[in-house]
Amino acid sequence: PPYQVAVLVGSLRQNSFSRMLAHALSELAPPTLSLEIVEIGALPFYNDDLEADAPDTWRQVRQCIVTADAVLFVTPEYNRSVPAVLKNAVDVLSRPFGASVLSGKPAAIVSASPGAMGGFGASHHLRQSLVSMGVNVMSSPEVYVGNVAALFDHAGALTHAGTIEFLTRFAIAFSTWIERLSAR
Ligand code: FNR
Repeated sequence: PPYQVAVLVGSLRQNSFSRMLAHALSELAPPTLSLEIVEIGALPFYNDDLEADAPDTWRQVRQCIVTADAVLFVTPEYNRSVPAVLKNAVDVLSRPFGASVLSGKPAAIVSASPGAMGGFGASHHLRQSLVSMGVNVMSSPEVYVGNVAALFDHAGALTHAGTIEFLTRFAIAFSTWIERLSAR
């Protein structure tokens, strides 16, 4: 069976370019990968006090990561950093202390921006958090998708040939990364 990849998208916007990218990645990924978006918009802000009777949404998202073979982060950049909704999801997934469902997971980061720098700042702030909790973040190829607003057609399909080619190589590399780190 293909590796199950949980995809966390750092934007809640209906017409989010990051979400479009996540869908494009799902379609161009090799048959060894099965991508599924895990929704993070309804997670209450992390609060240790809630752990005694953790919210259902926290439990569900944590379970999604437990059963996934790998995690793919697709995110825009907000003020040179990680959008709060995604940081909150990472915080929720990092706890309870010592029981993070993310630690040890193979992961990769795709950042995107309508600007030229492709969300570099968000990518590296996210990487810093993930590395600190023992997530096995793939280091290359790095993916910073710049000028993202120009890459899709009106139906939201990725049409830019160079980006399709690059993301295809990225997805193959990610599959190899997951295989190397997985026990099967
Ligand atoms: C942005 N945007 C942005 N872009 C960027 O390249 N660097 C940045 O630091 C920021 N900061 C920022 C802050 C906030 C609060 C918002 C709402 C937006 C612009 C951002 O890249 C753009 O809105 C993207 O389209 C957001 O991604 P989605 O929603 O299309 O996936």
